[in-house]
Amino acid sequence: MAKFEKSFPFSNKWLDDRLAVNTLNRVLSTEYWIPKNINFLWAMGMVLAILFALLLVSGIFLLMYYKPDTNLAFDSVNYTIMTEVGYGWLWRHVHGVAASVVFLVIYIHMFTAIYYGSYKQGREIIWISGMLLFVAFSAEAFSGYMLPWGQMSYWAGMVITNLFSMGSLEFNGLVEWIRGDYVPGDAFLSRFFMLHVLLVPLAIIGIIVLHFGALRIPHVNNQDGDEIDFDVESKKYLAGETKEAKVIRFQWDFLSKDIFVLGVFMIFFFYLVFYHFDFALDPVNFDKADGLKTPAHIYPEWYFLWSYEILRPFSKDIGLLAFAFAQVIFMLLPFLDRSPNVAPASRRGLFRIWFWVLLVDMIVLSVMGKVPPMGIFNTIGLVSALTFIGLWVILPFITMFEKKLKD
Ligand code: HEM
Repeated sequence: MAKFEKSFPFSNKWLDDRLAVNTLNRVLSTEYWIPKNINFLWAMGMVLAILFALLLVSGIFLLMYYKPDTNLAFDSVNYTIMTEVGYGWLWRHVHGVAASVVFLVIYIHMFTAIYYGSYKQGREIIWISGMLLFVAFSAEAFSGYMLPWGQMSYWAGMVITNLFSMGSLEFNGLVEWIRGDYVPGDAFLSRFFMLHVLLVPLAIIGIIVLHFGALRIPHVNNQDGDEIDFDVESKKYLAGETKEAKVIRFQWDFLSKDIFVLGVFMIFFFYLVFYHFDFALDPVNFDKADGLKTPAHIYPEWYFLWSYEILRPFSKDIGLLAFAFAQVIFMLLPFLDRSPNVAPASRRGLFRIWFWVLLVDMIVLSVMGKVPPMGIFNTIGLVSALTFIGLWVILPFITMFEKKLKD
């Protein structure tokens, strides 16, 4: 007891006695080892965390003036926030650009993990929680897209909620239950507003904690897929102490690298915010929602285009099944890849080809998702969608017979 009485309130010791802050700091930073042989792609996780923080802060400012009412929403965004509120335009551009760019960084982060095999051998939960983050960010982006109540908000809301009729099952009761009406209206806007500002962000914060927690024990992977012995009781493996040192400390050695990449990224980000924010705001959405005027061509934001194109070239029911397949299949990657090799794709035989075909195929699907589904575009879309499905079907077979690289 004496130990507690003597310590001075709010000093480091005072907090350590009560909350073990020093142990926490050791476990999470100063004795958290990161492999040396990683490149700038490993900073994308940090970039994502900062982008999420930017989305939260800019979102809170927008929330102060936004009106979740079908009669007021459009003007509250396009008139009040953009022209009347001091720097309202800046918060809107930061929010819009971050919402788009976060998906670019998520895709880079995901494909880095696929390329280096960072989803297996103890890292399965990192991968699965990452995919849950992808799903949660998709829900966050979609619900946010409804809020300005422009033409694309309304019609994308209509198209996506229609998917819940389950094709020829015509489960219309479910669609109306989700909308709270026969067509998107006030109830629809209020519930998507609640999802966007409360429920989904809470879920994202929870999953981020799980994602970070899952990283602590297996540690991050590295460019060679080396298993590094992090159980370094002796200080031999400390950065710089021996020539063979393979690890660096998270704080500040690794963090300083992360912060450098983050700085470069922020130059790119604010360049977009100030000079090219329009790429993140669809011109059609600057017309107020009108249930009697269907836009000539309805398409989602760029980051959903590949999965939209998997739905489009097929008949209604098969399209829905293909779409559902595309949503869940990435989650199963750690179990479909049957090879024990944790190594870059360049050293993994057929998997190398599989990786690049998948990447190019998803880019082609995204381009085809944007153009009208006519003539040759339809054929290319169909071939790419079939290629996507085929790639996942063959994955267990090509990886099952992969040559073992190391023990
Ligand atoms: C959007 C929110 C996300 C945040 C804030 C986030 C954050 C992080 C951080 C900080 C790291 C460690 C450093 C690094 O490798 O970059 C990491 C690693 C990882 N993340 Fe994410 N991540 C997110 C989304 C995802 C997604 C969508 C996936 C894909 C499924 C994913 C899969 C992984 C994997 C497999 C690793 C381990 C990498 C390795 O061991 O080398 N993450 N994440």
